[in-house]
Order: sequence, then structure tokens, then C-alpha cells
Amino acid sequence: MIPRETINQIIETARIEDVVGEFVTLRKRGSNLIGVCPFHKEKTPSFNVNPARNIFKCFGCGKAGDSVRFIMEHEHYSFQEALRYLAKKYGIKIEEREQTPEELAAQNERERMFNINSFAQNYFSNIMMTSDEGQSVGLAYFHERGFRDAIINRFQLGYCPNSGSAFTDYAIKNGYDKDLLIKVGLTGSYENHLYDRYQGRVIFPIHNLTGKVIGFGGRILTSEKTKAKYVNSPESEIYNKSQTLYGIFFARNEISRLDNCILVEGYADVLSMHQAGIENVVASSGTSLTTEQIRMISRYTKNITMLYDGDAAGIHAALRGTNMILEEGMNVRIVVLPPEDDPDTFVQNNPIEYVTKYLTDNAKDFIGFKTNLLLKDAKNDPIKRASVIKDIVETIAVIPDPIYRATYIKECSRTLEMPEQTLTNEVNKILRAKYHKQLGIDSAQRLSSSSAERLSSLSQEKEQGSTPIGFFQEQELVKLLLSHGSETLEIEGKDDDENDVIYNVTIASLIIDDLKNDELLFSDPTHKKIFDAFDRGLDTGTLPTAQDFISNEDQDVAVLAANLLSTQYKLDDWQRHRIVVKTEEDVLKKTVLTSILRFKDMVIEDRRTAIVKELQSCTDPDDQMILLKKKKNLDDIRTRINRDLGIVITK
Ligand code: CTP
Ligand code: MN
Repeated sequence: MIPRETINQIIETARIEDVVGEFVTLRKRGSNLIGVCPFHKEKTPSFNVNPARNIFKCFGCGKAGDSVRFIMEHEHYSFQEALRYLAKKYGIKIEEREQTPEELAAQNERERMFNINSFAQNYFSNIMMTSDEGQSVGLAYFHERGFRDAIINRFQLGYCPNSGSAFTDYAIKNGYDKDLLIKVGLTGSYENHLYDRYQGRVIFPIHNLTGKVIGFGGRILTSEKTKAKYVNSPESEIYNKSQTLYGIFFARNEISRLDNCILVEGYADVLSMHQAGIENVVASSGTSLTTEQIRMISRYTKNITMLYDGDAAGIHAALRGTNMILEEGMNVRIVVLPPEDDPDTFVQNNPIEYVTKYLTDNAKDFIGFKTNLLLKDAKNDPIKRASVIKDIVETIAVIPDPIYRATYIKECSRTLEMPEQTLTNEVNKILRAKYHKQLGIDSAQRLSSSSAERLSSLSQEKEQGSTPIGFFQEQELVKLLLSHGSETLEIEGKDDDENDVIYNVTIASLIIDDLKNDELLFSDPTHKKIFDAFDRGLDTGTLPTAQDFISNEDQDVAVLAANLLSTQYKLDDWQRHRIVVKTEEDVLKKTVLTSILRFKDMVIEDRRTAIVKELQSCTDPDDQMILLKKKKNLDDIRTRINRDLGIVITK
């Protein structure tokens, strides 16, 4: 663990212009520097470096952060790796924080598991390349399948001898622990007797993002149906199948450079594609894609191209699980291969020019693909057609971005021969239903719950696009917390004896205490994290600084903070509205107070809208009474808020 003071020292020393300058040519523009963004394709430079704040921000793709964040994004490093990189570059010595015995034990065990895997990988590769059995069985098998030595070495393929416990014996002789060998799944035990789990199989090591071997897949060489085709590593502290993509370490740079990730099913598919020079390819290893895997890809690109076998099973597999990918805001395209092929055979049997052309020509946008496929099945059967429309509308409704939704609606209105407005109405109906299901939960709880379920329905009819209700008001408050949280304001109030007094309060406590008092919480999870950090700060007496957020280990927090702080905070344009302000502090005070009130107003209006809708469908007189009472209560609060707003603005 790197102590916080060292982290701060690294960030202070690693000047942003210097760190970025190593990778991007920067030109001076005003007090900032500007260059061509390394994270997305662009001709005119929109990548901004702000030496005063020690942060960067691209106004094209939105990436932003400090020098650590830059290295993480650019080199695909973890937070700790980026810090170590910078520390090394600037000659800063890292005094590791003393770890607790538990931390040490856990880390040691992980470390030892990685070591065992690395040892095993070396052993399997060596055996395959140098022993008689390895060459004549393992290597011969790979050659037979068309894999050349370059790809075999790059992916560190290997072979485990077919002789009971040769590997396990060798590992134990080299001091590796029997229990850990069993834990990582290299060794099996049967009635006190140890054996190699991968014996007689070729080995595909599985690497994590940073290239460490976290597991193995072992393929059988025969077509015996009585034995499993693949033996795989069990789940462990270092291997979590649902968070792993085979090939990601070798593919990540190309995925981000080409801004597209090709997804296939098996180890062999990945190898053949890479061997053919198509390197932005990973495999889900036979399972359907998980949210974690999609999020891993989304660190590099928003575009996924799925390659499917041309048989019926392949096509139907293509339809399954894809809504989840759309839900994550990814763009999905599908390429269906000729019926007799899988990606492995397809690239092995065709010239590369043909393959790349085939992929470009046949990449179909997912929703269009699905629509056409379902329509073909439905033919002219009106009932089937109706269910196709329903299916497609449901798929469109999961897309978080309203602009994409609109585009798809337009397109599908053509293919489905339905008026655009009808489809829009249907999609909105689903969104609204989702929203109401959310509202069914206690609203305070809903507000504090994750906004991953973007409450896009009602707000779509408002001006905010796809963002949840109150999002902008929330963000305004977060921005104030970040840029002015620890400044103090003089607030007039009354003491216990109703005497007028002036309180000196920090802006953080003004915002946090006021919202907590009314049990209003932020709904966006990242906003909430920042809120909570200030809340804790108020408890402990040490408020967090902007820097704490910019260099936060939590990627979402760091990016949001850098973003909000790099757009100059524009205090409300009071003068323009002919409102008298005396001092800068006065402006700040008005801004804070109105922002709080506007946020509250938004939340209250949201609740009120829900109640009004509920009233429309409510038939029970008692329930109606309760709802009406609730509504009256909210109306009163709104009146109070508006009165306060008026006072703040004109005072
Ligand atoms: N898989 C697995 N266990 C199995 C079968 C499959 O883990 N019993 C995973 C493997 O990651 C495999 C992927 O699912 O790569 C796809 O399965 P399949 O198409 O059967 O394997 P291929 O890799 O295509 O193997 P090959 O081409 O050598 O037959
Ligand atoms: Mn195959």
C-alpha cells in the first residue's frame, strides 16, 4: 500500500504538462496547453492541459484527470501501477505502509498464487518446446491446427505431460505448497494421492489485464466423449471467470486504437484472429457475456462487434444477452459467418483481405439485425408481427442514450412499417412503467439507490434528456462542494432565544446538513460518494480537498471531479438578471442557497408528479384521501421553497 502522503508527493512532482508531454505534442494556448487527444480520433486538438490545476481534460471525448489518471488511461495501468510508474520516473521513493497481519497474509497468498501460476506456465511451455512428448504431442497438435510458433510463444501456450503427477511432483520439489497447488486447480487430490489436473492436455494460460497468469484452460487432444473437452481453473482469489476475458492483455491496445472490440467464443478463435493480424479480439470463453466483462471492454471502447458461427445456434446465441450490452450504453454490431465456419476456421481458411472485407461488409447493427431476423420468422402472420414489434420496442427501451433511441426508432419505423410516433409512444410507455416501478419503492430509498437504472422516462419529456430527475441540480451542488466546500459564509439565523445571530458556516456544512435535515439524498452514485466524503469530513473536522477527489482511487469520482473543476465554475449571472450583489461572497452565498433550494424543488416536484399520476388511477376513497394529503403537504413545501428562493434572490 502506498501511503497517502507519498501519493500526494507523486502527484505534486509529476507535473501534468510534463507527464502528458511525453506522449502528446503540446502547444501553448493562453495559460493552458493544447494538443491532439491520445484517447480518441480527432483532427483539431481539443485535448487541454491545465498546469495551474495540474489536470488534463479532453473537450472532445470528455476524458479528464490528473497525471496519475493520464498514465492509467494511456498505459492501461491500475492506480497503484500508475503511481509506481510515476514514482520511478521522478525518483520518488515509495515507503510502503505497514500492512496489518491479515492484509499481509491475504496479499501473500495472492502473490503466491500468481507465482505458482507463473511457474506452471513456464513449465508447460518448456515441456512443450523441449521434451520429446511435448513436441510430438502438444506442439504437433498446435501446428496441426495451424498455429505458428510466434503466436504459440506470444500467448504462452504449453503442454502438460500425460504421466499422472509429473508437474505436481516437480512443483513440490521446487518448494511450492501442495495446498496452494490444489487451490489454483493445477493439482487434484484423490484419496491422499496427488495428480496433475491438466495431464495430457494442451494449455491455454489465461492472463489478466496486466499480463499476469490467473488461470488455465486445458484442452483434450482426443475426441473422447467421456472426458471433458476443457479443464479450467476453479474460481479463486485471483481468478473470477465472470470478470475475465480471454486475450484482453494482448488485445487492449488495439481495442482502444481501433475503437472497437471483436468478441468471439473460444480460445482457438482468439489465437487464429491474432495470428491473422486482427488483434482487437477477445473471447468470453464459452459463457454468455457478463456485465463485468462489458464494463472491462468499455474502458477501451464503446463499440463491440460480435462474431457468430453461421449455424442456427450461433444466430440465436447472438440474440441472447445482448440487451444487457445495450443497457451498458455500448454499440453492438453482429457479424454472422458462413454456415460452415467459426471464427477460427474462417480466418485460417481465407486470405486476410477477404476476412477484413467480409467483417466490414457484414457487420450489422444489432437492432437492425434482430428486427430483420424476427420479421423473417414472422412472415405475414399479424400476431407474430405484433410480438416482433413488442420485442424490438423493449430492446430499444434499454438503450440509455435518448439520441440513440431516437435513431433506432426512426430506423425501425422503416423496417417494421410502423409510424415513428407509435414506436416512440410504445418505448416511452415502457420507460414510464420502469420509472413507476422505481417510484413504488419508498422515495427516499429510491433517491439514495443507484441511478444506474437511469430514470430516463419522465425527464425525457423535460429538458434534461436521459439524466435522472434532479441530476443537474445535484451536479451543481457537487460542483459547489468541490470548488468552495471549505469556504465559510456568514448566515443569518436565530439562536435558542429567538435572537438574531450571524453564524459562520462552511459551504459544505450548509449544503450537507440542510439536505440531510430534509432527508434528501443524491441519487447519482458518484455524486453520492462525494457527498458522503464531505459528510464524513464534517464529522471528523477535516474536510476533503479538491485534490483528494481529483486523485481519488475511485475512477468515477476522479473523472467527475476533474471534469467539474476544469470547466470554470460560473457563478450565477446575477447581474444579468438585474439582481444587486455587493461582494463576491454575496454571489457565492446566493448561488449556494439557490442551488440547494432548486435541488429541493426538483425532488419535491418529482414526488408530486408521481402522486398526481397515482391519483389518476386510484379508485379507493381512503387511498385518495391519503394521496391528497401527501400532495397538499408537498404543495406547502414547494410554496415555502419558492418564497425562500424569492427572498434569497432579491435580498
Ligand atoms: N469451453 C469450456 N469448457 C468446455 C467447452 C468449452 O470452458 N467443456 C469454453 C472454452 O473457453 C472454449 C469456448 O468455451 O474455448 C468455446 O467452446 P468450443 O467452441 O467448444 O471450443 P473451441 O475453443 O472452439 O475449441 P476447438 O475449436 O478446439 O474445438
Ligand atoms: Mn473451435
